[in-house]
Amino acid sequence: MDIHSYEKAWLGAALVLIVFFIATITYGTVGAGVSMVDDSGGTVDPNNLADHERFGDPGVEQVGENEYEVNVVASAFYFNPGSDQLGFDPIQVPANSTVTFYVTSSDVIHGFSVPGTNVNTMVIPGEVAELTVEFDEPDTYGLLCNEYCGYDHHNMEGTVEVVPEDQYDGGDGQ
Ligand code: CUA
Repeated sequence: MDIHSYEKAWLGAALVLIVFFIATITYGTVGAGVSMVDDSGGTVDPNNLADHERFGDPGVEQVGENEYEVNVVASAFYFNPGSDQLGFDPIQVPANSTVTFYVTSSDVIHGFSVPGTNVNTMVIPGEVAELTVEFDEPDTYGLLCNEYCGYDHHNMEGTVEVVPEDQYDGGDGQ
């Protein structure tokens, strides 16, 4: 059988494209730090968060030299901490830090998204979402709920402040 050289070239190009598409999907699935929503952070009783060691008094904790944990409770329609426009503390961490967020919900499914970072998860009552991110430079980020959770979903938001290391005072945002 004789295959024309142009046909061979197009066959080759099509094969390269298929391999490229599979590679991009593979990268998007496992290479970019993307993972499915799960209860990797553990499970909690959403009706009894007040007694929970992480969520009874949510906020920022330093756990290593440049390592911080931020425990956040999402409720209709605020993040505690985070929703500074409603009187809660903003989430404040220093620059050059590695921050692990532990987020749970006290009522319905919410979202927890910090645009401009790879922090973006669904927040499910009874489950703890765990995400780690590195903040290198001082900046101020918005914090959004991106799962429809009720009549005031569109106002469920907050602030994440990454402050210069020498201005960091312990994370209570005061
Ligand atoms: Cu909480 Cu939408």
